[in-house]
Amino acid sequence: MKTIAEDAVIKETTCPSQGLQETAPPVVQTPVGLWGQTIPVEYARLSPDELDARIASSEAKLGTRLLILGHHYQRDEIIRFADYRGDSFKLAQYAASRPEAEFIVFCGVHFMAESADILSASNQKVILPNMSAGCSMADMAPTEEVLDCWEDLRTVLPTGLLPITYMNSTAALKAFCGRYDGSVCTSSNAKAVLTWAFGKAERILFFPDQHLGRNTGLKLGLKLEDMAVWDPQLPMGGNSKEQLKRARLILWKGHCSVHLRFTAEQIKRARERYPGIKVIVHPECTMEVVQDADMDGSTEFISKTITQSPAGSKWAVGTEINLVNRLSKENPDKTIFCLDPIVCPCSTMYRIHPAYLAWALENLVAGVVVNQVSVDKEVAHWARVALDRMLSIT
Ligand code: 13P
Ligand code: SF4
Repeated sequence: MKTIAEDAVIKETTCPSQGLQETAPPVVQTPVGLWGQTIPVEYARLSPDELDARIASSEAKLGTRLLILGHHYQRDEIIRFADYRGDSFKLAQYAASRPEAEFIVFCGVHFMAESADILSASNQKVILPNMSAGCSMADMAPTEEVLDCWEDLRTVLPTGLLPITYMNSTAALKAFCGRYDGSVCTSSNAKAVLTWAFGKAERILFFPDQHLGRNTGLKLGLKLEDMAVWDPQLPMGGNSKEQLKRARLILWKGHCSVHLRFTAEQIKRARERYPGIKVIVHPECTMEVVQDADMDGSTEFISKTITQSPAGSKWAVGTEINLVNRLSKENPDKTIFCLDPIVCPCSTMYRIHPAYLAWALENLVAGVVVNQVSVDKEVAHWARVALDRMLSIT
């Protein structure tokens, strides 16, 4: 593992998909303010071993008061300290089921920490070690723009429309879904949630990931002609009234830049090179990639499927590289590699460097809560309505 300064130089200048070159911070001059979150300079100077020791020591001191949750995309240096690892659905369930832990340190991204805060008990505090660990897909659906879209849509479709938000969205959008009889979904239950929603309404507005929405719609038997894409930059999302009236699924034009790197051509090459190989991808990939793959599912599904496969199996995987590399290390009897040769981590998940975790935990030991993620009460109430609907559907 590298120090935080070395790590940011490498990460922020090598990943072509996320436009990071433009935003790369002046690494040498301000090593402690990397990735938008400032921490005391001593943490930037600690060696990997020192960071490990200090995290372990704080974890031991906090004992059962502390619960560390780690998303599958977190780096190994973080995952080794997680009490639980999982996809966003499983981690939300863990957060809701451990009321005895006073502090939930969420090693993932901001929308996941918000959901943990909403689902946990009121006395629990949720902490995100680096507040700048967001999600570029969630940022593609600003609350005001979605509310404007809803108003515009209601002028054409005054009834029979239900909002469904992917977990990768702000708490405010989850609350909006709660208020308007909708629900949240994750990649592990999108099919069940959309089936539920179509039982209640003729049409669904799905945001922010058009690909998860489209892939799920196709699984439910919808045709591409039954779907419309809502581009927030265009009047009426770029649709005529007739197109919107015809559509059963209206897809917000958002995407994940990590998953858009995977292509049908990469799948073809993997199959040529390794006859009999299985291809497994995340449903945030494009429709072409999901259709050419053998299977698709959430990070937990990918993890379980590969782990439970027989020795000697071969897997080409279309998801974030930290998870793929970990699966490869943990399953030495299988061939496992990433479909994309230019491997690209989720740059925001990557912002949870051990230096931030050490800093957050040592503050807790000292009785100081830093980086608490706290959702406004009214927003939390309605977001919980939507999250509870999801939990009861699945
Ligand atoms: P999962 O719910 O499958 O973990 O997905 C979250 C995510 O952000 C994938 O990019
Ligand atoms: Fe967001 Fe994509 Fe990162 Fe998932 S992989 S957290 S969707 S940016």
